[in-house]
Amino acid sequence: MKKISHIGVLTSGGDAPGMNACIRAIVRTALFENLEISGITRGYQGLIDGEFKKLNSRSVSNIIQLGGTILKTARCEAFKTVEGRKIAYENLQKNNIDGLIVIGGDGTFTGANAFSKEYDIPVMGIPGTIDNDLHGTDYTLGYDTATNTVIEAIDKIRDTAASHERLFFIEVMGRDSGCIALNAGIAGGAEAILLPEKPLSINSLCNLIERGKKGKKTSTIVIVAEGEAHGGAYKVAQQVKELLPIYDTKVTILGHLQRGGSPSSFDRVLASRLGFASVKQLVLGNSRHSVGFQKNTISLTPFEEALKEKDFKFSDDLMEIAQVLAQ
Ligand code: F6P
Repeated sequence: MKKISHIGVLTSGGDAPGMNACIRAIVRTALFENLEISGITRGYQGLIDGEFKKLNSRSVSNIIQLGGTILKTARCEAFKTVEGRKIAYENLQKNNIDGLIVIGGDGTFTGANAFSKEYDIPVMGIPGTIDNDLHGTDYTLGYDTATNTVIEAIDKIRDTAASHERLFFIEVMGRDSGCIALNAGIAGGAEAILLPEKPLSINSLCNLIERGKKGKKTSTIVIVAEGEAHGGAYKVAQQVKELLPIYDTKVTILGHLQRGGSPSSFDRVLASRLGFASVKQLVLGNSRHSVGFQKNTISLTPFEEALKEKDFKFSDDLMEIAQVLAQ
C-alpha cells in the first residue's frame, strides 16, 4: 500500500450548507495525521485549470458557520471527457498530490468514479447536496439545512395565506427528488404535496384542496417539487385555477435561497464526521468509496453503488402521514 502524504480537496456541483464545515474537518484531520493538504478551487474545473492552494489550520478558521463553499464550485463539462481528466491527473502529479477528496452530488461522484478507474490515485467522496438522493447515506450534507429553510418559508407564507384566505403553490428544489418537498410539506403542514416519485392528477389535487375548504380551512398550501410531472408550480396553479376559479391563487418559487445560509447543527456535525472519516479512510488505504451516515454510524459505499440509481428515500408511510394529517 502506497502511503499518502498530500491530499487535495474540492467541492463540485451545486453548493450545499455544511460544505465549509466539511472542508474544515478535512484540513484539520489531515494536519493531525501529518499530511499536507491543498484546496482545489472551482471543483473539477480548477483541477483542470491548475488552481491549487496549500491550506493550514488557520485557512479554515471561522468557516464552520458559513454557507456556500470557500473553495468555490462549478459544474464542469471538461471533466466528463478523457482529455479533461488526463490534464487533471497531470496537475495532481505536478502538485505532488497523492490522494483526493471530492464533496458533491451525483455528478461529482460520476466524475470521481471515472477518474479513479483511469488513474492510480485514491479518491474518496463525501455526499454534499441538498437533494438527499445518493445511496449509502441516510442524509447528504446540506439537506437538513435546506429543509429547515423551506419550512421557515412555508411558515411565513402560511401567515399571509391565512390572513387573505388564499391558495398558495410553493415550488421547492430537489431536481428529480421529492425528499425536500415531502419532509418540508409534512413539517409545514401542507394540504397537498406533489412529488416526482408519486404523481398526483390535477383532479385528485383539486379534491384535496376542496376537502380542506369543506373542513373550514382558511388557507391552503400545496408544495410542488420542481421535478414533478406537471412541470412545476406555475403550470399546476394554472390548471387548478381552470377547475377551481373561485380560489385566490398565488405562486412562490423558493429557488436558490434554499441552497444558502448557515448550516444547521445537524449538518455541521455530519460534515465534521464525514470529513474526519474521509481522511482516515484515505490513510487506511481505501479508495473509490463514498463515506456516509447510516443508522447513526459512518459507512462506506463504493461509488458505483452510491450512483446505481437515484435514491429518493421516498416512503409510502410518509406520504400517508402527509395526507392523513392534512385534513
Ligand atoms: O443538485 C442541487 C440542486 O440545487 C437541485 O436541487 C437543483 O435542481 C439544481 O441544483 C439547480 O442547479 P443550478 O444551481 O446549477 O441551477
